[in-house]
Amino acid sequence: MQSYGRCCRSTGFFDTFYRIFLASSPDVRAKFANTNMQAQQLLLRQGIMNVVLYARGMPDTKLRALGCSHSRKAMDIRPELYTLWTDSLLKTIHEHDAEADTNTLNAWLTVINQGISVILEEY
Ligand code: HEM
Repeated sequence: MQSYGRCCRSTGFFDTFYRIFLASSPDVRAKFANTNMQAQQLLLRQGIMNVVLYARGMPDTKLRALGCSHSRKAMDIRPELYTLWTDSLLKTIHEHDAEADTNTLNAWLTVINQGISVILEEY
């Protein structure tokens, strides 16, 4: 939670994330071909907060809803794209949170994996 606070206060955090994520694969770029990326950045800010809050014990309702919108019947975000998402987010955190050491990044990985497994249960 503290690392995420530092990330959100760091200018350009969400710009960096989408730069890295979109560069990671043509499949990712194709999914966002018609997206307003400024609006998407605000949505992701809340989305990551939901992932963090779930790891801190909040109910999984918001993540299940995300799982439905990302499922094969809806946007069809294939499970392997979440590996690129995770790698992109960890790189972005490393760039923007000067205090993020190995422990911090490992904690992030645990938190992200918990959230993604809920989302993928709805796939
Ligand atoms: C939309 C979060 C993973 C592609 C959204 C929204 C949120 C969100 C909050 C907007 C609300 C909604 O549509 O339900 C997350 C989180 C992720 C994740 C927290 C990982 C834990 C991914 C991945 C992709 C992806 C791996 C792969 C490309 C999209 C697309 C949209 C979207 C295409 C819709 C954009 C539009 O409206 O044009 N995501 N997402 N997401 N996400 Fe994700």
